[in-house]
Amino acid sequence: MKKSYYCKRLNETIDFDAQKIFFCCATRTGPSINAKENVSSVKKIITAREHIIKQLDRGEVPIECVGCYDLVEQQKSKYSGLNFYKRIPKPNTIIVKHFKQCNSSCIYCAEQYISKRKIVLKPQKSDYYDLLPIIKMLYTKNLIDKKNLTVLFQGGDISVLEEFEDLVNVFVDNSVKKIEIATNGIIYLPIIEKICKKTFVDMDISIDCGCRESYKKIKTVDKFDDLVKNLKRYSKLPIQLRLKYILVRNCNDNIEEVSKYIELMKEIGIKISELTIDQCDPEFLEKKIFKIPPHYYELYDFWEKKCKDYNIYPSLWSYLKEILDRGEFFR
Ligand SMILES: C[S@@+](CC[C@H](N)C(=O)[O-])C[C@H]1O[C@@H](n2cnc3c(N)ncnc32)[C@H](O)[C@@H]1O
Ligand code: SF4
Repeated sequence: MKKSYYCKRLNETIDFDAQKIFFCCATRTGPSINAKENVSSVKKIITAREHIIKQLDRGEVPIECVGCYDLVEQQKSKYSGLNFYKRIPKPNTIIVKHFKQCNSSCIYCAEQYISKRKIVLKPQKSDYYDLLPIIKMLYTKNLIDKKNLTVLFQGGDISVLEEFEDLVNVFVDNSVKKIEIATNGIIYLPIIEKICKKTFVDMDISIDCGCRESYKKIKTVDKFDDLVKNLKRYSKLPIQLRLKYILVRNCNDNIEEVSKYIELMKEIGIKISELTIDQCDPEFLEKKIFKIPPHYYELYDFWEKKCKDYNIYPSLWSYLKEILDRGEFFR
């Protein structure tokens, strides 16, 4: 029987990045098109996405998908792949990261190479393109799965993106199901108070430490106190608030700092913690393979136990769990 391939992410996602538009999630280098050449036409964007989905369905794997663990091989039959769906599903996940400006310059940041670590203090337009007209057009032409839509704001930092509030309003006016916002939390976003009554809001804030001195070292800006003040306000809202800690080797990868961070969470009353690993570790970038240092396992055990003692949920991304079990990650 003939083979065909299927990818859940490809069926769901459009990821608006600065130079490219990807058709799967933000963490991988999946199939994409050049943003500059295609942003003027939503039809071109949707056609390119459908072309890749059809290609997989025919059993052809585009080079960007080779080896991806999300790719599912199946026997082609009248009950599988596009035959099952009858028509290509509309995207139900939009990732917003078409801008790179930020009011911080974290030493580990995966995006900063493109903004050349310039710190931006006031909201401004993306250096690449405006997303608002594209999103409006996707709704007008009925090209997205409006009812089931999740929107992920990444970046750069949305607190210095001029069109952020307009984008949020368009999504909320169209009954978006869920909005996920990753921000450094340095600038308080009043719009969250307005939208949290209308849609499910998930906020993911990376603090990466538990005190002002370490914060300055990692984030390179002296904004720890501002962030703590904002966290106290966010923690009172009906939103899902996660406080993240990225382990950066020889910087914050020690029990004392992780402990201070969890104490701070307890003091503020934040209930979800995420401990993750720097994906831009110099060893990884250089050798394309990163062996998890043995003391990371001790840190994970400590973190999990302390979180549980304080009734904080220790959230572990499933992909990271696989990496920890395997002992390494690689490109
Ligand atoms: C690039 S940031 C943009 C959003 C926002 N400025 C922030 O810091 O949360 C998007 C997400 O990527 C994460 N991130 C950035 N660099 C990373 C790295 N080297 N390793 C792991 N996660 C990283 C951040 O913690 C954040 O959750
Ligand atoms: S706040 Fe976010 S986008 Fe800004 S430098 Fe840090 S990780 Fe990068």
